[in-house]
Amino acid sequence: MSAMGRIGVLTSGGDAPGMNAAIRAVVRTGIYYGYQIVGIRRGYAGLLAGDMIDMELGSVADIIHRGGTILRTARSEEFTTEVGQAQAYENLVAAGIDGLIVIGGDGSLRGAAALAQRGIPIVGVPATIDNDMAGTDVTIGFDTAINTAVTAIDRIRDTATSHERTYIIEVMGRLSGQIAIAAGLAAGAESIVVPEALISSEQICERLQRGFQRGKRHSIIVVCEGAGSGYAISERIEALTGLRPRVTVLGYIQRGGSPTAQDRILASRLGAYAVELLRQGQGGYMAALQGGQLVSVPIEQVVGRPRDFDSQLLLLSQILSI
Ligand code: F6P
Repeated sequence: MSAMGRIGVLTSGGDAPGMNAAIRAVVRTGIYYGYQIVGIRRGYAGLLAGDMIDMELGSVADIIHRGGTILRTARSEEFTTEVGQAQAYENLVAAGIDGLIVIGGDGSLRGAAALAQRGIPIVGVPATIDNDMAGTDVTIGFDTAINTAVTAIDRIRDTATSHERTYIIEVMGRLSGQIAIAAGLAAGAESIVVPEALISSEQICERLQRGFQRGKRHSIIVVCEGAGSGYAISERIEALTGLRPRVTVLGYIQRGGSPTAQDRILASRLGAYAVELLRQGQGGYMAALQGGQLVSVPIEQVVGRPRDFDSQLLLLSQILSI
């Protein structure tokens, strides 16, 4: 892309802490290199509605520490259709946008890949609390989400200890156990239940009983939402043991809050790198982090591909909670 072109930026799908830091990095890096930056509000829905604003250096002041996304976000059904994508492309052309940066998760980048095929250079920036994307070590928002979950579980542990009870904490992540494993390990959970390595209620109860035999009077079980409902697991444990585990569904608090330093740094690096990729004419790529290094990965290679499951952390948590 030549300097003086126009770069559009949008956030799409579930919001993730650090999206604002990524928008800021795109706007400031873009302006630094002489581009005009156009913010597209409400993701692909806003692109279809032509909801766009010119971004200045000051439009992204005081947002690096804020959760959510100043551009707002949405999940657009209309954009998943051929007609919707054709309209989105026309709107980009009509707005004089020469390159687009899409900040979001797998579904958002799938949309980006479809749009890129119509001939507009697009770079994706992986942002989702789920950390379920292939091609990058980590996604923007994951670190904040697991810290939020750990803080919550620590508090629940206090009351679990006092009352000598078993608690089940259901965390987000769809079909990816990344949040459950990381938060469960960091919070010292006795059991972690994830879709990638399902364990039966009987196995959970065996672990509980082993703990009781060696004098444990309370227990923390972390369940990924995609592995089953915390309430259903609680009922099965009650039927098998007579214990009545209390259930907390952490829900959307995992999506909000001020991003951690790690997420702000990651978002700043990936946002700036996305502009670099457009500058180098590398449309159709995702800006990613591999082994601590910034790399570009063809979007087509990552979308719809599940992240490889690494069982090491889960194994470690089992050893440490023996
Ligand atoms: O992908 C992020 C996420 O928070 C998932 O963990 C969760 O299952 C989903 O989004 C909830 O989506 P919605 O905001 O549409 O309810």
